[in-house]
Order: sequence, then structure tokens, then C-alpha cells
Amino acid sequence: MAPLIRCEQLWKIYRLGDVEVQALRGLDLTIEPGEFVAVMGSSGSGKSTLMNIIGCLDQPTRGRYWLNGTDVAALKPDQLAEIRNQQIGFVFQSFNLIPRTSALENAQLPLFYRGMPLREQRALAAAALARVGLQGREHHYPTQLSGGQQQRVAIARALVTAPSLLLADEPTGNLDTESSRDIMAILEGLNKEQGITIILVTHEPDIAAYASREIIIKDGRVLTDRGAAALQPAEA
Ligand SMILES: Nc1ncnc2c1ncn2[C@@H]1O[C@H](COP(=O)(O)OP(=O)(O)OP(=O)(O)O)[C@@H](O)[C@H]1O
Ligand SMILES: [Mg+2]
Repeated sequence: MAPLIRCEQLWKIYRLGDVEVQALRGLDLTIEPGEFVAVMGSSGSGKSTLMNIIGCLDQPTRGRYWLNGTDVAALKPDQLAEIRNQQIGFVFQSFNLIPRTSALENAQLPLFYRGMPLREQRALAAAALARVGLQGREHHYPTQLSGGQQQRVAIARALVTAPSLLLADEPTGNLDTESSRDIMAILEGLNKEQGITIILVTHEPDIAAYASREIIIKDGRVLTDRGAAALQPAEA
């Protein structure tokens, strides 16, 4: 089976006027389907830059990236958007819910963009909310939910399209310990029970401990990589 993610010598250079920032400097990384990977590293080491590239929100300045065997660098913006919508779910530190819009409608949004019939959108969004323990809260607005509950709505929104890859950039960064544990238990369940590949950025070692593999990024490269899935022998 092909790796889900293969990055070879990724470089990302941001230019702001005369200033050049080398956010990624020749990063190599391979992730197999079904892995649960924690990405750690100090502030500015390139974690979010890497997540944005893996999530097809941005493209590398140099280097290659294959997602599920597809050479992402060769894709046009609309094809990138399609891969993103079909295969990838995102969760961010700041929840990014739409205010004055119910939990159900927030969770429906990716399906709305697909042009799915409303009744189906509602059914799938309600099921996704139930999966994160929010049945009964469908009609609450974000301001009527706790931080942990808002993040669960964001996870439901990320899941509603049944992605094969879930990217979470510091999903517990704004949460207290107990809500963080709830969120991590949900992510762990999605990985173990549904086989969703998860890549999670965190600064907290006890959050990283939920993952089965831990990568530390330093200066735009992988510094250490522990617990990688055993390489499968090539099929005869
Ligand atoms: N859009 C951008 N334009 C210019 N420079 C950027 C941009 N995004 C990130 N950078 C720079 O690239 C480097 C890596 O940033 P990145 O956001 O990937 O770090 P990070 O590891 O996610 O840090 P943190 O832990 O603080 O979130 C930093 O020096 C940052 O200032
Ligand atoms: Mg970041």
C-alpha cells in the first residue's frame, strides 16, 4: 500500500519585502494510512507551515509532496480544493466556527459547499455531532457552548465529509485540561475505531502522548521521529 503522505525535501520560503524566512528547509516525512502522529517543536519551527502544505492549503516553494499517491505539486488550484474537500478535515486552535450560526449549520457547511440536498446535509451533520457527544446541542449557537463543546462542533464539521486525513493544529491550545482530555479521547476513538489518519500539532507532551508516533521539527526539518509505523515488507 502506498503511504498516505510522502514529503521529499520540502522547502517553504516566505518573502516579505526584503526579508526571507525559510520556514521549511528540506523536510522529509512519510506517513502511513491509519497513523496517529503528534508534531512538536518550538514556536516558529515550521509546524503550521507543514500542516498547511500537507492539508493542500498552501504549496511548497521546492520539493515534492504526494497525497495518496497523487503528486500535489502538479495540481491546479481547483483540483487542490477538491482534494482538500474530499480527503481532508481541519481542526484549529481557535475553533473557527461561524458566529450566530447553530452547531448543526456549522457542521453542515462542508456539505452545503458540495451542493448536497438539505435533508441529507442535516442528517449527516446531526450524526457527526452525535459522534462527538453533542446530541441535543444542535441548535445552540457557538456563544452558547463551552470552548470544549465548540471544538467538538469543529471536529464534527471536519468529520462530516468522512475524510481519510484529519489535521489538527493545536486543537487543545485554548482548552482547559478536562476539555483537552475529552477532545483527545474523541480523536483517539476516530483513529482507533474508524482508522482515520490524524496529524496533530501540540506543545504539550501529555497531549502528544495520545499519538503513537511523535515527530519533533526543528528549523524546518525533522529532528527526531519516534514510533513510526513498522515498514511493511514489499508485496511479492
Ligand atoms: N504567511 C507567512 N508569511 C511570512 N512568514 C511566515 C508566514 N507564516 C509563517 N511564517 C514564518 O515561518 C516560520 C515558521 O512558522 P510556523 O507558523 O510554521 O511555525 P510554528 O512551528 O507553527 O510555530 P507556533 O508553534 O508558534 O505555531 C516563522 O518564522 C514564521 O514567522
Ligand atoms: Mg503554528
